[in-house]
Amino acid sequence: MVIRIIGTGSSLPQQVVTNDGLAEAVDTSDEWIFSRTGIRERHLVKEETTASMSVEAAERALINAGIGAEEVDLIIVATITGDYLTPSTACEVQAGLGARRAVAFDINAACSGFLFALHTAYAYLETGVYRTALVLGAETLSKIMDWEDRSTCVLFGDGAGAAVVRAFNGETRIRDDGSQWLEEKGKGGLLAFEQGSDGARGKVLSCKGRENNNLLVRNPFTPSYVKMDGQEVYKFAVSTVPASIQRVLEKAGMEAGDMKYFVLHQANIRIIQSVAKRLKADEGKFPVSLDHCGNVSAASVPILLDEINKKGMLERGDKIVMAGFGGGLTWASAVLEW
Ligand code: COA
Repeated sequence: MVIRIIGTGSSLPQQVVTNDGLAEAVDTSDEWIFSRTGIRERHLVKEETTASMSVEAAERALINAGIGAEEVDLIIVATITGDYLTPSTACEVQAGLGARRAVAFDINAACSGFLFALHTAYAYLETGVYRTALVLGAETLSKIMDWEDRSTCVLFGDGAGAAVVRAFNGETRIRDDGSQWLEEKGKGGLLAFEQGSDGARGKVLSCKGRENNNLLVRNPFTPSYVKMDGQEVYKFAVSTVPASIQRVLEKAGMEAGDMKYFVLHQANIRIIQSVAKRLKADEGKFPVSLDHCGNVSAASVPILLDEINKKGMLERGDKIVMAGFGGGLTWASAVLEW
């Protein structure tokens, strides 16, 4: 069984807010934000919602894969910012696409969410339960930011990314343009996963849900926002991510030097540079989208994957690592042969 990503798509809100634009409303500066994070601007929603961006990203991924919505068996959306507690964003995507055959549900693993969702889809596909999955990371983080808290609100952005994942069992797939891909058994695709969680340290990056409120206890509804101990999260990221990547490379029987790209969660350019250094890998192998997207949590990895795919930077046989880390705390890595 070969399990491949056969299409990618993404959707960003129309409105772009630069660091200078942000500094008009928040006590900050382009110099502070860019020098500490590498972020120049981010997209923020006005009309868009988590579901509308997800549907658009999914439609683009299906077009890129050359398949129709009716072929999708499974939709998993990784998000912490769905528009509703229920229905899930995945169910909204199903409705938006008209993917009537699909089973749909959301996953919450914060910034590792896309990798967790991908691993979950892989498990369904690998065991033959389903054949074709749509995996998304989608966030409207701007609605859970405290816009008075300059240490967090400058870091995050909104957007959605999607990947179509399909299991092949030695059959030929014919694309819309008539070309054929012969899928050989046991070659390429998703090769290895590694993931973990550390709930004991979870409160260093948190956003509270609703308080208890019933006949026995009254708590008037008050909105809650993201709170973060930036330096603790930074230390977690620079130690955990390279170790996770080393482990997933070992599982795949490969080395950092075999990888064409390292598609990392886009939180901070200094984290990316530190991971590159620890892996002794060329920084040029770490594509970046945080300069124009900021940190889009679960959407960062699929948006970046779509960007490099659209630019034609991925060729059949290229090996890449994808890695996510963040709230929970959680982390996950995968090795993929394109
Ligand atoms: N603009 C201007 N000043 C700011 C600011 C902003 N947006 N945010 C905070 N500051 C100020 C603080 O008030 C503090 O001032 P003080 O020293 O006078 O008290 C100072 O800047 C803090 O600066 P510093 O300690 O140098 O910050 P830092 O180097 O730790 O950088 C982060 C802060 C958040 C960029 C960094 O900790 C980080 O990237 N952490 C990881 C966060 C992350 O990636 N989270 C998501 C993971 S999924």
